[in-house]
Amino acid sequence: MADLEGCLQAALAEFKAQFGGESPSIAVYAPGRVNLIGEHTDYNDGFVLPMALPLVTVIVGRRSSSKECRLVSKAVNDLCPPFPVPAYPPPGLEEVNLDGPRWALYVKGVVALMNKDGGVPVFDAVITSCVPLGGGVSSSASLEVATCLFVEQLKGGCGLGLVDKAMLCQQSEHRYAGNKCGIMDQFVSVMAQEGHALLIDCRDHATENIPLSDPSLVVMVTDTGKRHELSVGGEYNKRRESCYSAASKMGVASLRLAKLEQLEGSGLTDVELRRARHVITEIARTQDARDALKNGDYKTFGHLMNQSHASLRDDYEVSCSELDELVVLAQTDSRVYGSRMTGGGFGGCTVTLLPRDIVEETKERMKAGYSGTPTFFVASASPGAGVITQRLNELCT
Ligand code: GLA
Repeated sequence: MADLEGCLQAALAEFKAQFGGESPSIAVYAPGRVNLIGEHTDYNDGFVLPMALPLVTVIVGRRSSSKECRLVSKAVNDLCPPFPVPAYPPPGLEEVNLDGPRWALYVKGVVALMNKDGGVPVFDAVITSCVPLGGGVSSSASLEVATCLFVEQLKGGCGLGLVDKAMLCQQSEHRYAGNKCGIMDQFVSVMAQEGHALLIDCRDHATENIPLSDPSLVVMVTDTGKRHELSVGGEYNKRRESCYSAASKMGVASLRLAKLEQLEGSGLTDVELRRARHVITEIARTQDARDALKNGDYKTFGHLMNQSHASLRDDYEVSCSELDELVVLAQTDSRVYGSRMTGGGFGGCTVTLLPRDIVEETKERMKAGYSGTPTFFVASASPGAGVITQRLNELCT
């Protein structure tokens, strides 16, 4: 993974430059993700089918003997003002405010939640990342998960299993960044296996690794160049609320349990009906897509991706003109299996499934037809987060 190595080397160089030529003693990474199908279903107890990208966030650092932590992000070229180790939040406090730049909240939140025993030491750290920020491929989850592994290394263990780690990172995003995200991004960043997509049942947190390493098949991520902001009170949180009110009017604990036939006659508003219809059909599509992928039936898989996009555009209303343009340009060639927006929406990336031998011509067509400047990334299903201190030590000697 050239990107991982590049991020690690950049982080090491920056650490030495910032902290008097000394070397860090810990290095960790966590990947961003692309979701193949199952969009806006995770917070409705549904299924999702993401895979981890070779695009990663790296953190290098070490314990410090000073009173305050020093944190630098090369990803945003910013230096956080020094801060004391964030304390575990008092009980009952749902959302917590911490000072400092917004990007640093993703780090401080995870540190605070891992500091229940007061055992997190003061640290110096540098972050680098090749996950595009705000690009719909989970730069924030990769930062949270990398922080979780970093703190685990700092403390010499944290007693958390993989699911606990993912849930803690999700909690941090809820409480410190104000995004009521689901569990998909953190789960896949923690748990992905190389050469596999990860099917997650978001109701009971069961996971299944689905092989995705056919050399004739390509998963292509295309960045619209339009950035999204999943902010507090934003459209994302509104979608979540509509789903919950629809479920409650339909008398079910979550939309996972709702049936299409119940949509009429449950007193739903037009908006609630369309939001719920997307979620119910998307959960079914994701299960069908899992079967198709297992059978190597890429045509069916791609068809489900196309349907998913139409549903996200028309019923869920989270697409935008840039995403729609790129999806149509990809779908125009019938040899392309399928294409859709990926992630929260309102900008970011599309994901396209296609045979390897038509990748170049597909890129050319999309580039020529798009109103902006797209960036293409041919993605391989990559492993989840890990500790790379050994590689760091090799670089330091
Ligand atoms: C964002 C959230 C995820 C998920 C997707 C939409 O990426 O972080 O939890 O809800 O949007 O599928």
